[in-house]
Amino acid sequence: MAGKRELPSSSSSNTATFVVLVTLILNSALLCNGGITSSYVRSAVYAPVDMPYNSDVFAVPPGYNAPEQVHITQGDYLGQGIIVSWVTPVEPGTSTVLYWAENTGKIYTAEGYYLTYRFYNYTSGFIHHTTLLNLDYNTTYYYEVGVGNTTRQFYFTTPPPIGPDVPYTFGLIGDLGQTYNSNTTLTHYQNDPLVGQTLLYLGDLSYADDWPNHDNVKWDTYGRFIERSAAYQPWIWTTGNHEIDFAPELGEPIPFKPFSTRYQTPYNASGSTEPFFYSIKRASAHIIVLASYSAYGASTPQYIWFLQELANVNRTETPWLIVLIHAPWYNSDITHYMEGETVRVQFEKYLVQYKVDVVFAGHVHAYERSYRIANIAYNITNGLCTPTPNQFAPIYLTIGDGGNIEGLASAYTEPQPSYSAYREASYGHGMFSIKNRTHAYFTWNRNQDGYAVEADTFWFYNRYWYPQNETATNF
Ligand SMILES: [Fe+2]
Repeated sequence: MAGKRELPSSSSSNTATFVVLVTLILNSALLCNGGITSSYVRSAVYAPVDMPYNSDVFAVPPGYNAPEQVHITQGDYLGQGIIVSWVTPVEPGTSTVLYWAENTGKIYTAEGYYLTYRFYNYTSGFIHHTTLLNLDYNTTYYYEVGVGNTTRQFYFTTPPPIGPDVPYTFGLIGDLGQTYNSNTTLTHYQNDPLVGQTLLYLGDLSYADDWPNHDNVKWDTYGRFIERSAAYQPWIWTTGNHEIDFAPELGEPIPFKPFSTRYQTPYNASGSTEPFFYSIKRASAHIIVLASYSAYGASTPQYIWFLQELANVNRTETPWLIVLIHAPWYNSDITHYMEGETVRVQFEKYLVQYKVDVVFAGHVHAYERSYRIANIAYNITNGLCTPTPNQFAPIYLTIGDGGNIEGLASAYTEPQPSYSAYREASYGHGMFSIKNRTHAYFTWNRNQDGYAVEADTFWFYNRYWYPQNETATNF
């Protein structure tokens, strides 16, 4: 029927309004003191168990001494460097990377180094790290590893030159692990129509330490699992508690040994003295990675470096100031409740002073978004120890819902705190899509929805260029 659609009458309009209201109340959310506690009920698709060793996602590439677990991260301060890392299983081979820009004939060579380590009864393969520097911006490069034995080729695209209105989309995954749910999360990220160009990883990688003797084979399978994304775009690493691997009972008293040997960060380039806290500039963003599990008190290396780095931020060049940290400061899940509190007390006032736009965290295996709030008025005698609205405070996002073996953290404190805008215990990933110096679009995608379905969305207004109230809140 091609007839003209009639305008609804006022009575049908009232009925429609009533139906919408009832639907909202019944199906969507429970409104609490704070924001929204999602009532979404997940269907039990996958139990939180690791995929078996013979899964195709863990397949060892064919060929003698073939490079595996290939992954890249930013290798400098300004986005013109890439660190290429991989493992050769049988013999060292070479640490050479051959690389060339798309549609050019000139092949460059970079040399790196390799490391090995032992952990209890495990001996690693040969872990190579080679840094490519002085790359052109906005260019697709192909690269080849395994030179001398079996070679494999991959590619990546460098970011546009740093600038205040450069659009750029960062993906967000935390606490991924290597379960069937992890696989779904990574697939959803790779198929997200917003197209993540660089992944901000919020800590807790392989969960090897959940296994007897910290079964380090799990570090190898994790590396093979993520290669399908991490070999093609930088994954920016935040360090979580599952990277500590402190096990004196196994004769392993050196913290962070497997992670530090396998995953590199460009910490020197930002003047940091530890690989666990550092910063990068990329497109229109200045990203500061903090370490929940490094010293943070006054006069410690992290504290001194952080204050220096905040003073280095130039919002005219990089309007978007983003902080990554593993343990969240504002999260109302019972699991890990207040674990980030001491770091918050130390650092929060500086984030407000420097108008940080957003803090992304993981650790809690659920999704939560805060309002713009701060709790920096307290001076240990005045009693002002309650979070209050503050338009120069960051929004706190917890995206620790990658889908690891420990399952979801689905028990919340009640009532929902007033600072909490939205919380839901489902697996998923986030996207932070910068449009220009004033606007960025954030989405959270739930694994059980379609790739393009946005379960929670939020338009960020930049705190330096456009510090307007983004939402009408009841807070
Ligand atoms: Fe964690």
